[in-house]
Amino acid sequence: MILILLGPPGSGKGTQAKRLVAEQGLPQLSTGDMLRTAISKGTELGFKAKSFMDKGALVPDDVVVGLISERIRQVDCSKGFILDGFPRTIPQADALDEMLKANGRQVDRVVLFDIQDAELVSRLSQRRTCLKCGAMYHLTALPPKAAEVCDQCGSSLIQRDDDREEVIHNRLKVYHRETAPLIGYYRSQNKLQVIDASLPSDVVTEKLAKALVS
Ligand code: AP5
Repeated sequence: MILILLGPPGSGKGTQAKRLVAEQGLPQLSTGDMLRTAISKGTELGFKAKSFMDKGALVPDDVVVGLISERIRQVDCSKGFILDGFPRTIPQADALDEMLKANGRQVDRVVLFDIQDAELVSRLSQRRTCLKCGAMYHLTALPPKAAEVCDQCGSSLIQRDDDREEVIHNRLKVYHRETAPLIGYYRSQNKLQVIDASLPSDVVTEKLAKALVS
């Protein structure tokens, strides 16, 4: 199965993708995580991407399309994969269709995480992430047991540079302008299912599981 999780920043795509990886045994392909890895390794690509990400802007299409094109050729993607944060523009969606078609494959399902912007500002500004294992927390809804320390591996928690409130507002603007048109793109292909992403995480997980078998 080739599944796309589509939705605004903070809608819970990453949280649910990680749960699906455990259940379905398919890899999670997060362009955001790939770009952050490039930044932490100090690569040229990471340096270029950081200037866009810090402002809440999109990294150019050719950069992310290149990352995904290389990643989906790896052996662990042969049975399918979960795309989290890609595609984010119509040209990215077209490029994905082309690269899949070249191998006789196609996008099977797209699940839209539907939620209001006001909820997202609170989720993102209170998000903390473990630098080492990637575990995610929310300062009020899902706080770590000890302040700024990961429950799972004991490493330090950080606030992402793009989770500052002024950047969050720009990310939301960019989502509505550049990414929301994908809703019509996939609806017209009869691939889109919509779930209410404002519900508690475990309920969203149940709804997602049902959407995937319906
Ligand atoms: P990326 O890393 O993809 O970020 P994003 O799409 O903005 O999404 P987030 O990771 O912020 O949120 P999420 O939906 O995964 O929610 P999460 O599960 O973490 O992209 C970052 C940047 O990279 C972009 O701005 C861009 O610059 C660049 N980029 C990446 N891909 C690109 C592309 N294809 N093209 C161009 N540029 C690209 O949850 C958020 C918080 O809410 C957490 O604290 C979590 O614990 C909490 N939470 C989750 N679910 C619930 C729930 N149901 N109830 C309550 N709290 C919840």
